[in-house]
Amino acid sequence: MSSQTSGSNALWGSRFDGGPSDALAALSRSVHFDWRLASYDIAGTRAHIKTLQSAGYLTVAEHEKLDRSLVELNDRVAQGSFVAKPTDEDVHSALERGLIEIAGVELGGKVRAGRSRNDQIATLIRTYLLDQATVIGNLVTELVEILVTRAEENLGVAMPGRTHFQHAQPVALSHHLLAHAWPLVRDLDRLKDWRVRASLSPYGAGALAGNTLGLDPNIVARELGLAGPTQNSIDATASRDVVAEFAFIASLIGINLSRFSEEIIIWASAEFDYIKLHDSYSTGSSIMPQKKNPDIAELARGKSGRLIGDLTGLLATLKGLPLAYNRDLQEDKEPVFDMVDTLTVLLPAFNGMVATLEFNRDRLEQLAPAGFSLATDVAEWLVKKKVSFRDAHDITGRMVSYCEQHGLELHEVPDSDMAAIAPELTPDVRDVLTVGGSIKARAGAGGTALPRVLEQIAALRKIAPKHEG
Ligand code: ARG
Repeated sequence: MSSQTSGSNALWGSRFDGGPSDALAALSRSVHFDWRLASYDIAGTRAHIKTLQSAGYLTVAEHEKLDRSLVELNDRVAQGSFVAKPTDEDVHSALERGLIEIAGVELGGKVRAGRSRNDQIATLIRTYLLDQATVIGNLVTELVEILVTRAEENLGVAMPGRTHFQHAQPVALSHHLLAHAWPLVRDLDRLKDWRVRASLSPYGAGALAGNTLGLDPNIVARELGLAGPTQNSIDATASRDVVAEFAFIASLIGINLSRFSEEIIIWASAEFDYIKLHDSYSTGSSIMPQKKNPDIAELARGKSGRLIGDLTGLLATLKGLPLAYNRDLQEDKEPVFDMVDTLTVLLPAFNGMVATLEFNRDRLEQLAPAGFSLATDVAEWLVKKKVSFRDAHDITGRMVSYCEQHGLELHEVPDSDMAAIAPELTPDVRDVLTVGGSIKARAGAGGTALPRVLEQIAALRKIAPKHEG
């Protein structure tokens, strides 16, 4: 039952009579997924040996040799000439094996002093996610910029605005597009805010209680570009709220893409015919030669479900864990790795789709007043004539009902019939019965009128580039 699967490079084992069973080794192994942290682990080790040297556990010469060996190991990992073996338990043991191959067992064996895989992994997941947050943030920033550009290209185009998915009031297409940009800007803000909490180094926390060697945790933090060390060694090794918060933001980005996707899918249908997707960002059918499918939007909608699953799986893993480190925490990585992979493959395609889709402006304009969407304008016109809104609502409702019975639009009601509905309804009400007039009138803060849209464009142009880098 028992075999030496962990091999001579296991980071533990001397107090055991034999090696772990194959079944345990297989269950325990994480190297097939945590190998992606290799360069972060090496960076952490390079920082750690500085603290060892500064505390007197490595001579200057030893430190230099180890550092050169770690640079060499990093190169080998990058080139693929050093790879993890199936017998390596995790990225940490694989890299210790690699370091010993280069620096020798005597020197390589000194590196582990004063740290545990518990503080090590808690640090790596932070440095890794900080980098990924930059990549994802840049892609989201690009999408915001694309939306702003599309809004600018389509200034003055009206479309039906909806509530409950029914025609409600006409809005500017630009205003609608920008309504998809703002939530993404808030996601960027969330990432920025999350960085403050993520940019701390658990190194020095050891297994849970700190270390006895007098190592300066500020050195590691500084070397890794983090703001400083964490404050409590138990919390530092046991908590993953920083990982969960990243997962929440990533899933929210997915949800925001999914909401827009739902519209794109509907807009591309023959019945709506609001948009035409570019050939290079749509797909065909293997059996129906006429088909042009919005697969990117569908995949975005589908993958948002997967992202939510990653988040909820992670939260469930964290629930009920006693302090401090528990092996359950190894399960924190695959969900966020999957989220990173999902968003980094999805966003470039999504951005391309949004940048290249064509709006059927004539149709949007033509449908903007449909469904009596100017009824609110009539009611508010009456209010300006000192009719109470309650009465105005009632009068306009009767006008809509008249139109439905006679198959007319609001502006087509004859003068005499208008007067019969209510004496307050004089023919000059037709002045507000245009889409252009309706949009122009909604000039209050955050409204759909052109000046308010232009203000948003200017604001977004200033905000978006700040998040890059
Ligand atoms: N693979 C482990 C993880 O991801 C690394 C820490 C292992 N620590 C331990 N005490 N076994 O959490």
